[in-house]
Amino acid sequence: MGKISACIFDLDGVVVDTAKYHYIAWKSLANELGFDFTEEDNERLKGVSRMRSLDILLEIGGVELDEQTKLELADKKNKNYVEYILKMTPDEILPGVKDFFNELKAKEIKIALGSASKNAMTILNQLELTDYFDAVVDGTHVSNAKPDPEVFLKGAELLGVSPSECVVFEDAEAGVEAAINGNMNCVGIGSPDVLGKANIVVPGFVGFSMTQLNF
Ligand code: BG6
Ligand code: MG
Repeated sequence: MGKISACIFDLDGVVVDTAKYHYIAWKSLANELGFDFTEEDNERLKGVSRMRSLDILLEIGGVELDEQTKLELADKKNKNYVEYILKMTPDEILPGVKDFFNELKAKEIKIALGSASKNAMTILNQLELTDYFDAVVDGTHVSNAKPDPEVFLKGAELLGVSPSECVVFEDAEAGVEAAINGNMNCVGIGSPDVLGKANIVVPGFVGFSMTQLNF
């Protein structure tokens, strides 16, 4: 591996576990529409955009709706979700993440966010992590969802580093593919069964260090 100048982090499932709040909010919507939505179903929504998530949910329930109604339902789900994330505190930062950020700062390696979420800034503020980031690219800045590399390439561009000098940290398969499509290195956070295309896969950040990045 060549020189590493920047690390680009996915947010949901990498820095914080928001999947449980997404789950509560999607399940509540599904129940209102008259069908159930399981935690296993929720796995299919990880890394997927809000509108695509709604399409998957409606497919599970066998429900067809017009575009206007879908926009209203997505908005309703988001309002419910935001109520949960506004109660989040720095205690919810996943173990080891802050130590790793501090290591990057000490080594003068830049930190960026590359997330599909339109709520990313709210979450970073709640977690009191905003100041760590040299650049933030989220769902409000991109038009192409992962596995398109747009979100990560924009991050590299904002930082002024070339893609090959970046390492992406991702918990979703589409995110790992986005990193590869952007010619970036990738660390999978989770299970090798799902994230096998990443350069390495680790269960989380506890004990993780830049010294492990000798791909
Ligand atoms: C991703 C999550 O980071 O963001 C998805 O993994 C979520 O589950 C997507 O659907 C969009 O999030 P938001 O906050 O804009 O609804
Ligand atoms: Mg994720």
